[in-house]
Amino acid sequence: MNDLQQGEFPIESENDIVSARRLVRNAAVAAGFGLTDVTRIVTAASELTRNIYVHAKSGVMRWRFLKSESKVGLELTFEDSGLGIPNVAKAMEAGYSTGNGLGMGLPGAKRLTDEMTVHSEVGKGTTVVVRKWLTK
Ligand SMILES: Nc1ncnc2c1ncn2[C@@H]1O[C@H](COP(=O)(O)OP(=O)(O)O)[C@@H](O)[C@H]1O
Ligand SMILES: [Mg+2]
Repeated sequence: MNDLQQGEFPIESENDIVSARRLVRNAAVAAGFGLTDVTRIVTAASELTRNIYVHAKSGVMRWRFLKSESKVGLELTFEDSGLGIPNVAKAMEAGYSTGNGLGMGLPGAKRLTDEMTVHSEVGKGTTVVVRKWLTK
């Protein structure tokens, strides 16, 4: 694991989604995840950064390594000050989209990670946190 334990990255353009993917891939590899889990984490991050860009225009992604006595993992936070999600439970349903999307981003990110929380306030913004734990 490298010295850098956490960081943040602004999401403001389509290109930032690509850069965020690369950043998350490097962090996941550094944390010790295998190829399958790296791909899961990168895919989840891709959906959640895209949601920032598409649904809130801009925001920030934060990442940090998690380390306790028994567990090691990676936490990713996606925060924006967009319009927010009126009904989070509905938004979590597969196929639900208020845009032209497939509506698989949020349910996909949940399936691909170990923990996911969505906090959203209409008119204030949305924060999504996902965690993936390393299993030996
Ligand atoms: N960051 C966000 N800000 C506002 N609304 C969001 C955000 N992320 C998701 N949503 C809402 O949740 C819905 C479902 O998201 P998702 O499953 O990724 O599907 P899609 O992006 O294809 O529409 C979106 O259509 C949108 O209404
Ligand atoms: Mg989406």
